[in-house]
Amino acid sequence: MAQKSDQSNEVELHLEHVDKAHISHELFHPDPSISAHAHVSSLKQYQELHHRSLVNPVGFWTELAKEFYWKRHWSSTALSCWNFDRRAGKISIGWFTDAKTNICYNVLDYQIKKKNAGDRVAYYWEGNDPDDSRVVTYAELLKEVCKFANVLKAQGVKRGDRVAIYMPMVIELVVAMLGCARIGAVHSVVFGGFSADSLADRMFDATSEILITADGVFRGTKLINLKSIADSAVAKCKDKGFEVKRLIVYKNLGDKLTAHLDADTLAGDKSPPSKRVRQLSWDSHIDVWWHEVMSTASDECEPVWVNAEEPLFMLYTSGSTGKPKGVVHTSGGYLVYTATTFKYSFDYHPEDIFWCTADIGWITGHSYITYGPLANAATSVMFEGVPTYPGPDRFWAIVAKYRVSKFYTAPTAIRALRKFGDDHVKKHDISCLKVIGTVGEPINPDAWHWYYEVVGNKKCSIPDTYWQTETGGHMITPLPGATPMKAGSAGFPFFGVVPILVDKQGEELRGETEGYLCIKQPWPGIMRTVYGDHERFEQIYFDRFKGYYFTGDGAYRDKDGYYWITGRADDVINVSGHRIGTAEVESALVAHPAVVEAAVVGKPDDEKGEVTYCFVTLHDGAVFNDALVEDLKEQVRLKIGRFAAPHVIQNTPALPKTRSGKIMRRILRRVVRNDHDLGDVSTLADSSVIEQLFANRPEQL
Ligand code: WTA
Repeated sequence: MAQKSDQSNEVELHLEHVDKAHISHELFHPDPSISAHAHVSSLKQYQELHHRSLVNPVGFWTELAKEFYWKRHWSSTALSCWNFDRRAGKISIGWFTDAKTNICYNVLDYQIKKKNAGDRVAYYWEGNDPDDSRVVTYAELLKEVCKFANVLKAQGVKRGDRVAIYMPMVIELVVAMLGCARIGAVHSVVFGGFSADSLADRMFDATSEILITADGVFRGTKLINLKSIADSAVAKCKDKGFEVKRLIVYKNLGDKLTAHLDADTLAGDKSPPSKRVRQLSWDSHIDVWWHEVMSTASDECEPVWVNAEEPLFMLYTSGSTGKPKGVVHTSGGYLVYTATTFKYSFDYHPEDIFWCTADIGWITGHSYITYGPLANAATSVMFEGVPTYPGPDRFWAIVAKYRVSKFYTAPTAIRALRKFGDDHVKKHDISCLKVIGTVGEPINPDAWHWYYEVVGNKKCSIPDTYWQTETGGHMITPLPGATPMKAGSAGFPFFGVVPILVDKQGEELRGETEGYLCIKQPWPGIMRTVYGDHERFEQIYFDRFKGYYFTGDGAYRDKDGYYWITGRADDVINVSGHRIGTAEVESALVAHPAVVEAAVVGKPDDEKGEVTYCFVTLHDGAVFNDALVEDLKEQVRLKIGRFAAPHVIQNTPALPKTRSGKIMRRILRRVVRNDHDLGDVSTLADSSVIEQLFANRPEQL
């Protein structure tokens, strides 16, 4: 392995400094038309609410929790069940702990009953091709979910079982998640861009015996053959001694897929059991079609009333160690937190049409396509395709088509679309927009201004929402009707959130300052554990700075108290808003026979935010050439997924190390930027390495 420790607290932290000369403190006030009707309409009102949420968190959140249905209410002693401080023993977090509820019941049955929402549209689904669309109401969604919950039961799925989901952005993905939630099973959604290896690792770790997938999906013109990737993941599980029992396959492409399967795939297809599935690999022992098992299922299913602190889902995410961790969220707190953040951060009102462009394979989709909007009986757009197909105006065409009023996307998409020019935006009437949010990475002021001026026509509010898979929902964000915005700042903390900045020793820093971003007290949406490894959870998030949850990010707090996130301070990089652990990429690279050692750092990139820059040391006799570079990129695609493919691979005879053998990534980050100001290098074992590193930088950089 690439000389990595498995202890996050040994990771050398690094802070990116904000360029204070280049940030502007100009305030962009919410448009009066937004403030006038907003849930929170002034900064003062926000401050009062935030204060109240901190003085009495239990009172604040229970008030909001009363909006939902609890089969059994919480007792007063079950509300402050947390220990956030390692020194006081095991880290434990619980909200509404002795209550019973069901999140699926709350976001469907209860919304239909309480708000008469049966005929309301839950989703306007828009396919990859513009002429492909569907409309699904709350009542229809509930029926499908009940049917699928019954299918799961018939397959033997029980409360607490982990069900893997590897699907495209189709309504059935939401149906699958809610079907699990209805019967108390734990969904583990794996993003469709992950490779068979990654899918297998996640299924193996969670012992998911059931996998829900689809035949395939087109993203733009590119076919993703999900079923064949799933098959190969199942085979890999088998190699590890773990038997996957059932694949439920949703027919998304049908004939469109068969028409595209190439000769190679057909040649490998050995056992077609019937005409219908002739060209799709099919193992009738474990594969069943979604539509077939659904056709006989009853559309009524009594929810299983689970404890508020029972796991609802797990979602794997990358950290400083080589192995992705299964972040576990529970029902009660997550429901209240996603519902509340959705309502306030987007200033949601019943007449709104909301569109979050994320993929449900990431936390943003879980919280702001599935749970948050449904918990508010909101109408959302759900999109299967990509921003540039069939043309770079697709987003704006969809906004105009459905009259989207609240829009939520990633800075990387904003930067990519901006490159195509303003005309693509302007040719559509998008005057319906009121709130245009961002998520996933810091937004640079340039992109912010374009978004504000060209997309938002200088009248939309921009909630730049800072949060993480681990936090369940928004942590720091401007509120649309209340917070005067600064271009590139995430603004102020959400209700119940107490961010602090600390120095390397964990001392809290006051006033205007830069530091490591920690959170001081628990909020309902925080993850509860790492699946199967509570100690790892404690180590990763609570060991470094005692008494606080450490986000892994650095931040600057300005003189007005605004937070500016400066990016990850650990060994995680953020490529186009996709979180990638450098250790994972390193493991993939060293698995190649030519590579002895590898170290990966982020390289700033105008469009993607960051890209992966890999340093590799080869075995004697191995030759570094274009073919090897391609091979190594492919290796990472296969081990992790397409989105993680390295951008730059540099050959180096040696890596910069301390005498104790620890790689000095600080130096590598300087090499990447061609910055010769290396600071203190006295701990370096062999300083001649530095010269070679600079000399070997690829010429085009
Ligand atoms: C980064 C995505 C700056 C941050 C919801 C965090 C951001 C990581 C922002 C989590 C933002 C997310 N401004 N940075 N508005 N939002 N990040 O788990 O580094 O995929 O730690 O969750 O994304 O990524 P994750």
